[in-house]
Amino acid sequence: MSLKKAYEQYFKIGTSVSKWNMEWPQAAKELQKHYNSITGENGMKPMFVLDMEENVEHPEKYNLNPALNFDSIRAFLKFSTENELGLRGHTLVWHNQTPFWFFKENYSLDEKAPWADRETMLARMEGYIKGVLTFVENECPGVIYAWDVVNEAMEENEEDGWRKKSPWYQTVGEDFVAYAFRFARKYAGPGVKLFYNDYNTFLPKKREDICNLILKPLLAEGVIDGIGMQGHLILNDSDLKEFEKSVHTFGELGLEVQVTELDIHCNSPEEEAMKQLADTYAKLFGILVDAKKNGKANVTSVTFWGMKDDESWLTGFRKEKSYPLLFGEKYQEKAAYEAVMRVVQ
Ligand code: G3I
Repeated sequence: MSLKKAYEQYFKIGTSVSKWNMEWPQAAKELQKHYNSITGENGMKPMFVLDMEENVEHPEKYNLNPALNFDSIRAFLKFSTENELGLRGHTLVWHNQTPFWFFKENYSLDEKAPWADRETMLARMEGYIKGVLTFVENECPGVIYAWDVVNEAMEENEEDGWRKKSPWYQTVGEDFVAYAFRFARKYAGPGVKLFYNDYNTFLPKKREDICNLILKPLLAEGVIDGIGMQGHLILNDSDLKEFEKSVHTFGELGLEVQVTELDIHCNSPEEEAMKQLADTYAKLFGILVDAKKNGKANVTSVTFWGMKDDESWLTGFRKEKSYPLLFGEKYQEKAAYEAVMRVVQ
């Protein structure tokens, strides 16, 4: 049995993948066994696609239509095709991992240079989205089944929910999100689903802001298909009741729901902690299966953020060792794996 087979009647099972994962034969074997979807952990983000040398050397030529380099994206397309894996595109418009010079007048490398104006940034955004979506559609049509068009545009603790420090917000204003989706809809291939993706989407205020400021207006324009609930949870600290409420709330809007970056931070490998981790994963998958089975939300894929514990981004980020996934260092199945399998067996 494998994860993807166990969950085949409910939703796709995915994992994030680094460029190193794609080079290791053992990883490819695990990917073929357990998953039918992958997401580039980093390699399809703007910092790996924007061609710094070209843009910075020839700003007059590329000012309104940035030069792009598709080598990194091509590797993911090739790997997905060879291994018959669906690919989630992550991500087109984000404040992070997009180089600061992209937002500057004349692509200046001087951090003190003025921001480019709104019209220029909208043109650059359209050029970027058009370039990427056209490339992937020409190169490998149908491999990318969903795109995170905009990532993390919301704050969670402020009166006004927009992430105001984002250079997209600073240069374009809050309608940068709407423009991104309009451009994505214009250039995406047929059947490619467009997602808004964010973390902590289970927090009540953030859920409300996302619904009112982003999802409902985009739905009214017909330019969004789904919401990505990232799912970076913390053991014994994330409220699964609220998580369930968000799944249902987003589902009721008629959007596809995908869990796009699932991991549960846990700083101990001891048996008791691993048992708690297993219980939490079981509850979470129970919520997702129930939502799908009973028509409360159209959950279409669930993606883990990492293949195995020792590769997780969390250890660096939390500055303590994390054991957040279903597989250990040698891809051995943990109690959490068994618990997730038991939900549907
Ligand atoms: O590009 C440099 C490279 O030049 C340098 O040699 C190398 C040395 O460490 O660092 C490279 O940058 C790293 C980058 O990943 C690309 O590999 C950064 O240090 C590292 O901090 C960065 O972390 C990524 C993080 O996004 C950045 O925000 C994580 O691997 C990745 O898991 C994480 O993923 C995000 C999702 O995209 C969005 N949601 C949250 C999630 C977790 O933060």
